[in-house]
Amino acid sequence: MNDTSTKHVFLKDENACLGLAEAVTKLLQIGDILYLEGPLGSGKTTFVKALVRALNGDVTHVQSPTYTLMHSYEADMPIIHIDAYRLKHAHDLDALGFNELQESAISCIEWPSKVGINNDAHSWFLKFSHVSEHERNVEITAPATVNFEWAA
Ligand SMILES: Nc1ncnc2c1ncn2[C@@H]1O[C@H](COP(=O)(O)OP(=O)(O)O)[C@@H](O)[C@H]1O
Ligand SMILES: [Mg+2]
Repeated sequence: MNDTSTKHVFLKDENACLGLAEAVTKLLQIGDILYLEGPLGSGKTTFVKALVRALNGDVTHVQSPTYTLMHSYEADMPIIHIDAYRLKHAHDLDALGFNELQESAISCIEWPSKVGINNDAHSWFLKFSHVSEHERNVEITAPATVNFEWAA
């Protein structure tokens, strides 16, 4: 990650989080992995929900998969959702069958540092932080080939 390709996005409320997801979905390619970082309650799962909504999927069952570890959602592009908080090694992802599944889906990984981060042409980095009850900052780094613009 270098500073020139990292955008700072301010979300004034949850609706802006949906706006960000809509902007991102237009640029996603099958096989992309979104690494979602930031403390508890900063909006990682809310962003995944927004992504599923932006891709016309059913958001009823979108929640942090803390106990089941991995969820998948049907949408315009299949979405895989992982919460790695309880995982320790990259091979824990193998055990879930993630490596085969991710090639034909969009993957969202919460707490990615627990399982190791791949920085390649499919990697997106979103780092969430609290500003106030409803306000969040997001540092977003898109793959080098993607020209991500944000107009709030
Ligand atoms: N601008 C915002 N963006 C995202 N979530 C927000 C925002 N404002 C308030 N929230 C609330 O903050 C909480 C974020 O929780 P969650 O997405 O589960 O966080 P995490 O997965 O990072 O632990 C939710 O209750 C959500 O409704
Ligand atoms: Mg979560």
